Amino acid sequence: MVLKLGGSVITVKEEPLRPDGAAIRRLAREIASSGIRELVVVHGGGSFGHPLAERYAIHEGFREPNQLRGLAETHLAMEELNKLVVRALLAEGLPAVPLPPFSCFITKRGTISRAFLAPLKAILALKGIPVLYGDVVMDEELGFTILSGDHIVAYLALALGASRVVLALDVDGVFNRDPRRYPDAMLIEALRPEDISAVEAGGALAIDVTGGMARKLQEMARVALAGVPVFFTSGRRPGNLLKALRGEKVRGTLLKAGQRA
Ligand SMILES: Nc1ncnc2c1ncn2[C@@H]1O[C@H](COP(=O)(O)OP(=O)(O)OP(=O)(O)O)[C@@H](O)[C@H]1O
Ligand SMILES: [Mg+2]
Repeated sequence: MVLKLGGSVITVKEEPLRPDGAAIRRLAREIASSGIRELVVVHGGGSFGHPLAERYAIHEGFREPNQLRGLAETHLAMEELNKLVVRALLAEGLPAVPLPPFSCFITKRGTISRAFLAPLKAILALKGIPVLYGDVVMDEELGFTILSGDHIVAYLALALGASRVVLALDVDGVFNRDPRRYPDAMLIEALRPEDISAVEAGGALAIDVTGGMARKLQEMARVALAGVPVFFTSGRRPGNLLKALRGEKVRGTLLKAGQRA
C-alpha cells in the first residue's frame, strides 16, 4: 500500500516552516494501530516545501545561479519535515527509513523519467517502511524542478503494483468544488477516473507549487485507471486514517475505475 500524508495535514500550510507536531504524532499512531506493515509512506511539503520553492521559482526550472541556493534550502527544509515524520513513526515502533527522492529520481519536464528504486525495494524486502516526500529534483530539460509527493505516489503505486493508495488531506475528500471556498460544496463519495474533469478544483488557498487538487486528481486518475483504487480522506479528523487503512467505512472519496457513477 502507498500512503500519502498531505503537507496540508502535517504542517500549518499558511505559516512558513510550521509543522503540526500533534497531527504528525497522531497520524503515526494511527498507522501503527492499523497493523499494516507493507507500506510506503510519502508526505507532502506544506509550509516547508511550497513557500521556499515559490520564492526561488524552483518549479520553473533553472534560470539563474542564485536558484541553486534555493534548491539546497528547499531540500533542507523538506529533510527537516521528513525527520519529524520519521521520528514520529519510529516513536510508535515502526521501522521507518527516510529515503530522499532527490537522490533516486530524475524528471523530464516534471515527469519522472528515471528512477533508482533499488534502495526502496531493499528497504521493503527487509520489512522496513520507506518514507519519501515531495522534493527538489534534477530535470533532464529544466535543470531542476519540484517533484510532488502526489507524482511520487502515482509513480510508485504503478511501479510497485500497489494494492491501493490512501491520501490523507486537510479536507474530507474530493468535493464538487473547493470546500474551503464554498461551504456548500458536496463530497463526492465515489468517483471514476473519466469523471474527474467535472470536479471544480480551483487554485489552492495557500501556496501550492505543484498544482493543488487539480493536479492531484490527474495523478490519481492515472493510478485508478491502472486498476489501483485511491481513497481520499481527512487526516485532520482523528481516527479517519486508521479506518481508511483498515479498509473500514469512513467519510471520504473512492476513486476507482469501472464503478457505476
Ligand atoms: N474540488 C475540491 N475538493 C477538495 N479539495 C479541493 C477542491 N478544490 C480545491 N481543493 C483544495 O485542495 C486542498 C488540498 O490540496 P493541497 O495540495 O493543498 O494539499 P496537499 O496535497 O495535502 O498538500 P501538499 O501539496 O503540501 O502535500 C484543500 O485544502 C482544498 O482547499
Ligand atoms: Mg498538494
